[in-house]
Amino acid sequence: MSRQYLTIGLFGFGVVGKGLWDVLEQTPGLKASIKRICVKNPQKQRPLPSHHFTFDKDDLLNDPDINVIVELIDDSEAAFEIVSTAMRNGKGVVSANKKMIAEHLEELLALQSEFQVPFLYEAACCASIPIIRNLEEYYDNDLLVSLEGVVNGSTNYILTRCSTDRISFPEALKLAQEKGYAESNPALDVEGFDAKFKLTILLAHAFGIVEKPVNIYNLGIQRLGSLEQRYANEKGYKIKLMAIARKLDSNSVIALVMPKFISPTERFFMVDDVFNGVQTETSFSDKQFFMGKGAGAFPTASAVLSDISALSYSYRYEYKKMAQQSLSLTNNYLLEVFIGYKDTTDLELSDFETVSEKYVSQDGNYLVGKIRFDKLRNCSWAFNPNISILLTSAFSAEK
Ligand code: HSE
Repeated sequence: MSRQYLTIGLFGFGVVGKGLWDVLEQTPGLKASIKRICVKNPQKQRPLPSHHFTFDKDDLLNDPDINVIVELIDDSEAAFEIVSTAMRNGKGVVSANKKMIAEHLEELLALQSEFQVPFLYEAACCASIPIIRNLEEYYDNDLLVSLEGVVNGSTNYILTRCSTDRISFPEALKLAQEKGYAESNPALDVEGFDAKFKLTILLAHAFGIVEKPVNIYNLGIQRLGSLEQRYANEKGYKIKLMAIARKLDSNSVIALVMPKFISPTERFFMVDDVFNGVQTETSFSDKQFFMGKGAGAFPTASAVLSDISALSYSYRYEYKKMAQQSLSLTNNYLLEVFIGYKDTTDLELSDFETVSEKYVSQDGNYLVGKIRFDKLRNCSWAFNPNISILLTSAFSAEK
């Protein structure tokens, strides 16, 4: 197959943009080069001569020589504007902006079909793990039962550092920021939003479900403290922030982002530091496991590079699951949770269907019990920042 030469207009020269420049420099076989880079701040010192840069987005979007726009900026609304204009102008687009893609998925699907341009975003989900391409090409039938993963590198790094090095949460977050893992607004990582944006995208490719992120439940790691860590240590567990999508029956799928206790028998147990891990399960081949670095300049840039390479042979996503299946999300199921709390009056015990474990001490209390998901996501006590909610290691969704 003959490969098209790609002349790239790059938006953004932050951690990933700079990483892409370096990675492209070291990949001479690829028929692609960056013609110009559009950046926001004219005052900022950059490691390349100034003729590489422009501050006017139209210099890239209206340049007929540029056939690919690579969008690696932070601001998701500005990114959507850039990406949609590029598609309208007939240019292929590569993006790593999970927030933008998740929040505008429906419009982006419409733009792809109206303007018949490829739009690739492997770097938006789990950086170096080629999960979207696998879902598109390998799991292109309806046999996928579940997809679960550690999909945020920063929180995994923070949880690992806090539990193994015993450093404080703010110290671990600072390290994650210094290493270029965290979002510029780290609350997106810590509160589980980044993982939710990735899950939103994965749901489209895994199950053909296009859902607004606001309709998907996310709890982050911000409420975790010594009580939860002690429980994990006593049982030999680790805590990981999990993104979970599972078929409940032939019509419905559950989807959520929550911290979970992970037992040593689970593959996620070995996914530490900045690594991500994704486990897929199908009806006939049981479980498969993918693991790789989930954040940082080069792991993310390598996924962008792979998308650029794929564009050179005209690869595009086909979203086959959307045509094959009519699945939708459900909130109507039962799940087992660990609840950490200070005072019994903080909780509404009658909200639980069953309680199997209860512990009371001066340092904090917890219970393990089953609750209907719909109840959990709506009850007022669950919004209390002093109450921690984690999935138990035996997590399953029952009708
Ligand atoms: N902040 C993200 C993470 C970057 O930590 O996973 C990669 O998407």
